[in-house]
Amino acid sequence: MTMEHNPTQNDFSFCRLPVVDKRVFRMGIAGNYGIDSSDVQWAAEQGANYWLWGATFKKVTAGIKEVIKKDRENNVVALLGWGFLGWQVRRSVENALRKLNTDYLDVFKLGWLGRTSIYTPGIIDSLLTLKQEGKIKAIGTSIHDRQRAGQLALDSALDLLMIRYNAKHPGAEVDIFPYLQKRNPAVISYTALAWQQLINPVAGIEMAPWPGRTEQAIPPLTPELCYRFVLSNPHVHLVLTGPRNRAQLKDNLRAIQQGPLNPEELAWIRQYGKLIRSRKKFDYIR
Ligand SMILES: NC(=O)c1ccc[n+]([C@@H]2O[C@H](COP(=O)([O-])OP(=O)(O)OC[C@H]3O[C@@H](n4cnc5c(N)ncnc54)[C@H](OP(=O)(O)O)[C@@H]3O)[C@@H](O)[C@H]2O)c1
Repeated sequence: MTMEHNPTQNDFSFCRLPVVDKRVFRMGIAGNYGIDSSDVQWAAEQGANYWLWGATFKKVTAGIKEVIKKDRENNVVALLGWGFLGWQVRRSVENALRKLNTDYLDVFKLGWLGRTSIYTPGIIDSLLTLKQEGKIKAIGTSIHDRQRAGQLALDSALDLLMIRYNAKHPGAEVDIFPYLQKRNPAVISYTALAWQQLINPVAGIEMAPWPGRTEQAIPPLTPELCYRFVLSNPHVHLVLTGPRNRAQLKDNLRAIQQGPLNPEELAWIRQYGKLIRSRKKFDYIR
């Protein structure tokens, strides 16, 4: 049974991905910002089981290979690929299968649609054939163009959309989320920290006191609050984190244990995101 795109509050830590049809820990690990294979193994011990991988993610390849060798059924491998022609997509899937020593990928994502990938009948035919052959379970894309993502949510062969969503850029709430109900594609979000703009102190920002409990001075937001903001949205199946090292990984995984934010906290964070968005230039406090 696949889940609707509404992980309820009780499902803050886990949800079932449509089409892929596996239960995932709602924080996916991207291995291209510094972590290594030992960090992947450690994250797996903490419950993480969604692995974003690409041909250049060399530092984590051995770790992912090891984790999925032990338990393929309960791990999700998402290949962030590229492609302008069907054979390129097939070649990158087959290379990934060889490098990760697995029979199938849970999802192939056409990376940066419109720039390093295109959505054409030829590409889609190749992906549908790979799906029929059982080499991939689902077809996805990583996309920056939100309006287009909304249209693809409504009508396309895509089972999964990887999109930007954070407190500074909540536009998916208008451009994408209202279009999910018809086909129920999986929603994976990136840039929770808005390129660190939400977590670095910015001069001259005036906000009411933070309404929640925390030991840290807020603002700026903590990474944990940024990830919890994203995960508190019922349309998001899973948030990606791209930690630089084990300390950041540990920090970020804690977001899952903290659970959803309450309405006052969410409203405060929205207001903060709006203020950060209104800044043309960032005067960071060092
Ligand atoms: N960002 C984009 O526009 C974008 C677009 C499409 C796809 N993607 C892909 O999506 C995946 C996830 O990327 P993302 O941008 O969403 O990752 P992210 O988790 O929002 O940001 C990762 C960066 O944030 C900082 N960071 C993370 N945890 C931290 C912590 N606890 N404390 C302080 N700083 C912390 C680190 O930067 P420092 O090294 O500065 O510490 C780290 O490199 C990656 O594979 C990426 O390639 C990203």
